[in-house]
Amino acid sequence: MNIFSIVLAAGQGKRMKSKLYKVLHPVCGKPMVGHVLDAVESLQAARKIVVVGHGAEMVKEVLGDRAEYVLQSEQLGTGHAALQAKDLLASEDGITFVVCGDTPLIREETLRSMVELHQSRGAAATVLTAEFANPHGYGRVLRDASGQVSAIVEQKDCSPEQAAVREINTGSYCFDNKKLFAALAQVKNDNAQKEYYLTDVIKILKDQGDTVLAHCTDDLAEAIGVNDRVALSEAEGLMRSRIIRQHMVNGVTVIDPGNTYIEKDVQIGADTVLLPGCILKGTTVIGGDCIIGPFVEMTDSTVGSGVHIKQSVLLEASVGNSVSIGPFAYLRPGAKLADSVKVGDFVEIKNAVIGEGSKVPHLSYVGDAIVGSGVNIGCGVITANYDGFNKSTTEIEDGAFIGSNSNLIAPVKIGKGAYVVAGSTITQEVGENDVAIARERQVNKKGYAEKIRNRFKAKKDQDKESH
Ligand code: UD1
Ligand code: CA
Repeated sequence: MNIFSIVLAAGQGKRMKSKLYKVLHPVCGKPMVGHVLDAVESLQAARKIVVVGHGAEMVKEVLGDRAEYVLQSEQLGTGHAALQAKDLLASEDGITFVVCGDTPLIREETLRSMVELHQSRGAAATVLTAEFANPHGYGRVLRDASGQVSAIVEQKDCSPEQAAVREINTGSYCFDNKKLFAALAQVKNDNAQKEYYLTDVIKILKDQGDTVLAHCTDDLAEAIGVNDRVALSEAEGLMRSRIIRQHMVNGVTVIDPGNTYIEKDVQIGADTVLLPGCILKGTTVIGGDCIIGPFVEMTDSTVGSGVHIKQSVLLEASVGNSVSIGPFAYLRPGAKLADSVKVGDFVEIKNAVIGEGSKVPHLSYVGDAIVGSGVNIGCGVITANYDGFNKSTTEIEDGAFIGSNSNLIAPVKIGKGAYVVAGSTITQEVGENDVAIARERQVNKKGYAEKIRNRFKAKKDQDKESH
């Protein structure tokens, strides 16, 4: 059986009061319509169509080639939106899912149960419904004596009796494809909002003698349609707990789920512990047996196993196994730490490879550098990589020792096993196993401290007198 899907995403979302089109508002870091497409993708539909209108170009840019697009140039209602897929789908045999772009919590398991029920009962339509204590704002599901769905009535068209119905339409449906398009052609806009309602298809099918079923979900989260910022924050909270719960089920310890923020595509290995205040974003991947936190923000970064990171920020960084980072380290794009590296407090690393077992323990800036293995970079060392116009590279070979508070003025190279003496400003290449000293030689003046104190004191006394 062929499966097709239509995601409705053309509305502006006036109730969001936003410059950003509604379906692009992120929930846990991903635009709502992206979440919807994640769920739909699990159906392995032969065609996935997204109906775009408001913000069409932006929606297309965000979703890219994950779907085909049809344009609804005027937003005349959800029925009119679905009808825009007619040229692509109307002649096909199969089952068509219609899902709203503003229901980010819809789950793939649920879509699959819907299609099972739909097929086993030979239905023309199956609606995903839920029982809400407060159903206000949603379409109400009316059932006949046999339990089949006879109609869906929108909030604004409800009689007081209908408004008391608690079972709501979540906005996800599967249909017999040909029956859907035949019925859509008959939908009129004689209702309170003067719109062509997709929900009217239900009554049309039922009245012509077809079977219309409801699959009532008990996961109320997935029924949420985000129309305003209040619902957006509810969806955010629900999605966040759902993601964290899944990591816990997979073997991750989360010490304080209420203070942990993990975006949907983040991966974390078993026996990793997340301490409070972790914000893990984008395509971040963390291995097993790590201790992350407290207060670590990671974006699009990769970390091996057995890594310990505290109070630090990682952006597009990649980190090997058994590495120790922080507290208060900043790894910027292109930071690549090999296994067993140590990056300590107040260290910034940008576009730099740090070889196995090397250490940058305190107060350093290492940028545009290639650092070998077993290198020790002393406290306060910096690579001076920028002259205001050009970025230059610093190379530090295996086993070199860079003494504290040295400046390495790039482009410059420190050879294997070389030794840079503390406080040096290095502008020329240091050869293999050489020692470089680049600072003023020290002079000690015997007993001179007393003299200096007396001189300074005399000056202070003189100043006082003259005032
Ligand atoms: C819709 C349902 C309602 C259901 C609710 C669930 C209808 C008539 N009503 O109401 O029964 O309880 O969803 O959340 O279907 N859209 C378009 N083009 C349009 C209009 C809307 O693409 O012309 C898209 C929107 O971008 C949105 C989705 O369709 O993603 C739903 O539209 P919305 O206006 O939010 O419908 P609701 O009033 O929430
Ligand atoms: Ca909605």
